[in-house]
Amino acid sequence: MTAPEFDPIQRAFAPDAMGVSVRLRGWVLRSRSSGGILFVVLRDRTGVIQVTARRDALGDAAFDAAEHVQVEGAVWVEGTVAEDRRAPGGREVRATTITVVDAGEPFPIFAEQTEEFRLDMRHLAIRSQEHVATFRVKAEVLRAFREFFDREDILEMTPPILSGNAAEGGAEAFQIDYFGRPGYLSQTAQLYLEALLFPHERVWALTPSFRAEKSRTPRHLTEFLNLEVELAWCDFDHLLEFTERMFATVLHTVAERRPNELAQLGRPPAELLAIQPPFPRLTYAKAIERLQAAGLSVHWGSDLGTAEERALTLEEKTPIFLTHFPRELKAFYMLRSPDDPRTVEAADLLAPEGYGEVVGASCRETDIPRLTERIREIGADVKEYEWYLDLRRHGNVPHAGFGLGIERLLRWMLRRDHIRETTPFPRTPSRHTP
Ligand code: 4AD
Ligand code: MG
Repeated sequence: MTAPEFDPIQRAFAPDAMGVSVRLRGWVLRSRSSGGILFVVLRDRTGVIQVTARRDALGDAAFDAAEHVQVEGAVWVEGTVAEDRRAPGGREVRATTITVVDAGEPFPIFAEQTEEFRLDMRHLAIRSQEHVATFRVKAEVLRAFREFFDREDILEMTPPILSGNAAEGGAEAFQIDYFGRPGYLSQTAQLYLEALLFPHERVWALTPSFRAEKSRTPRHLTEFLNLEVELAWCDFDHLLEFTERMFATVLHTVAERRPNELAQLGRPPAELLAIQPPFPRLTYAKAIERLQAAGLSVHWGSDLGTAEERALTLEEKTPIFLTHFPRELKAFYMLRSPDDPRTVEAADLLAPEGYGEVVGASCRETDIPRLTERIREIGADVKEYEWYLDLRRHGNVPHAGFGLGIERLLRWMLRRDHIRETTPFPRTPSRHTP
């Protein structure tokens, strides 16, 4: 017996589909029956459609079986496409047969449950229309980045996730037992991308980054996707220009390809299309003045966290670069500013509307004594970074790069309150299951 051919639900909405017979398969979003008519809203990966079935058309046995299918049960449907102004999309399928593939048990997720319960049931909760739209946009974002890097002739790399040293300093690394020796989960692929830069000049990687921070904020995960780029012969201006061009290009591509999902999630695509480089630049020193004027108690040397970034971006409609931080606040590998040795040539790209940091970028320090000094200052062992210092001993050239948090980007793009809504199985200090 050969498997029957099925039509995607989308087919029923084609201009020439009226009156055509179709064979669909999918999952029940909701259903109800009244007066011998069953109304089923069916979903597949291409869309959602109402199916109506009459008891007299299906026969008693088939009608009774179909009536008992639960939310998220699976069925095959054969029928004819017809107009129905009240149905979503203005069309429905009038069923001639409904075959139950799996009637399912009562679906445990419905309205009015606590957020904790939904997180416990995440493996099922991700079937919601909101999550479906979110992860379609996320896939489109990743595709748009990949296409951009292809066009720019930047090569994709595959750095390791397991390592014998903690790249950005020890405190926030997850330590594991690596056959009796300490091992760490990657916090960043940057040091490896810097090594790969010398043979390839322009490289990028998309890897999970792990941060053992007990930060219970709506923008911190303990595992997130870090999209990192490293460019040879790149100075600070070029780094910022590249970053803003990439950022705007990706927003525009996604706005064009996923307008319905964006609108559904509360982000009119026109708002993304309106974002154009160059983005405003604000030095750390100016930001401190601005925050003080707004009544926040900060001074030169204060780390700017969630609250400060929120204050700086709440009224903005476009992303802004925050630049030239005091070097003590930033990672050891950042380049000391030539015109102000207290600061580094680094920039964070802050998303507007209060969302804050999405990208961390910097020129890289190339001077071995300065690097060694900073490695000691952060309390790390210089011996463990000898391999990294080797990169400065053989064809050392100016270079720069950045990391972009994919979930941070989506949180802003999709106006989600909490970053966990941008990843299917969120990892936070209080949760690493399911
Ligand atoms: O600013 P971060 O820590 O920079 C680095 O990892 C550099 N080594 C990147 C580089 O230059 N190659 O992280 C980069 C980005 C941040 O700007 C933020 O968007 C995101 O990663 N990020 C987080 N996202 C979710 N949860 C967390 N706990 C995050 N920490 C950083
Ligand atoms: Mg950062």
